[in-house]
Amino acid sequence: MPMALLKHRDMPYTRAMNEHDPIIIVGGGQAAMQAVDSLRRDGYSGGLMMIGEEVYAPYQRPPLSKQFLAGETDESRLAFRGEDFYREHGVEMHLGQRVSQLNTTTRRVVTDNGLDFGYSRLLLATGARVRRLNLPGADLPGVHYVRTLDDSKGLRAALGAATKIVVIGGGFIGLEVAAVARKLGKAVTVVETQDRLLARVVAPVVSEYYRDYHRAHGVDIRLSASVAGLRGSDRVTAVELGDGEVLAADIVVAGIGVLPNDELARDAGIACDNGILVDEYAVTSAPEVLAAGDCASHPNAIYGYRLRLESVQNAADQARTAAATMVGRSQPYVAVPWFWSDQYDLKLQMAGLSQRHDAFVVRGDPASRKFAVCYFKDDALIAMDTINRPADHMIARKVLADTAARKRLTPAQAADETFNLKSLLG
Ligand code: APR
Repeated sequence: MPMALLKHRDMPYTRAMNEHDPIIIVGGGQAAMQAVDSLRRDGYSGGLMMIGEEVYAPYQRPPLSKQFLAGETDESRLAFRGEDFYREHGVEMHLGQRVSQLNTTTRRVVTDNGLDFGYSRLLLATGARVRRLNLPGADLPGVHYVRTLDDSKGLRAALGAATKIVVIGGGFIGLEVAAVARKLGKAVTVVETQDRLLARVVAPVVSEYYRDYHRAHGVDIRLSASVAGLRGSDRVTAVELGDGEVLAADIVVAGIGVLPNDELARDAGIACDNGILVDEYAVTSAPEVLAAGDCASHPNAIYGYRLRLESVQNAADQARTAAATMVGRSQPYVAVPWFWSDQYDLKLQMAGLSQRHDAFVVRGDPASRKFAVCYFKDDALIAMDTINRPADHMIARKVLADTAARKRLTPAQAADETFNLKSLLG
């Protein structure tokens, strides 16, 4: 049954008008919020429901490990939209409720507290959850993670009285927390299993820069180091490393990656493999079930392989794709991935994915704290990491979206700060 393509503003939603089951969005994060916005903008005027496990309406997560944690911004500034937005967009909100069952044959979902709803289309925007430490002492009070608003509030409150922080994991979360804790004057040690920081996302040249920058700011960075266990009786007091060294800690923060929330889909028989498998239209293996955001793995048109991206960009763009599919205006997802991380006075922005590069050049002088690393594969640009060069980042996103421009850029041009990257665009 095709959805009526009516302008939401022209025809305000009322339940009585809708004889069909609603579109149900499972999840209450950025992808969920974007799907609501896009569905209505795309003219969907039928029933719409959001079921989210957290008690909060969708809010921004990036500040949770940055400005919010540092006490520079407050909770009221985190919400994407005011309550009015959901009411005006005719969304039936079920917050603080978890969908525990999905039946793709009868097209119904059931929540933990027994609510049972039929859907016409289902969007799984279930996101990801933190990977938890699996070590002796991991459940002691004083061990923190940073994913939800409640996590960040808890850590923010605990940071006040703490003096020694041990951070486990040298990825985005660990390093952002380390930078905030240093700003607050705490003694900070970062323990990372790999031999370099940020190994999942950036190349060694950027890892080394961040290692040196954190060390210059007084962070004790331990690479190729494992954690054997956490010590303490009624709360954590120390971290024992694999080599036997014991680091005193008032607080331990673990940022050791996230896992996709794909169990609901998996249990319903939907194909999953490190996330819910979707096609370029955000459609899963089940009819009328779509997925978007951190939980979904999509075939990336630019890179030619499957990706499960954990980013604001992907949550927003893939939710737009899913909404377009649901209203019958399918458009394949072809967005260039981008990410960012703020640490101290460094704004790291990543356009594209550098993972499979075979060459790179540095643009600008790292000593000036403004430079970029341009990554190539088979003589075409595949990614650019910029540090405090936001203009280059914006142009890089455009160049990466343009196959001809990606091939036109030579490493010599990329390394030449005076070369105008804009000139590559047709
Ligand atoms: N001990 C020490 N380090 C570990 C351990 C461990 N037991 N297990 C994993 N690590 C390290 C990894 O090697 C990696 O460098 O933790 C780091 C985790 O980094 P990310 O994968 O970037 O995950 P995280 O920093 O937790 O960020 C989670 O939040 O900001 C978003 O986009 C970000 O999606 C990401 C998510």
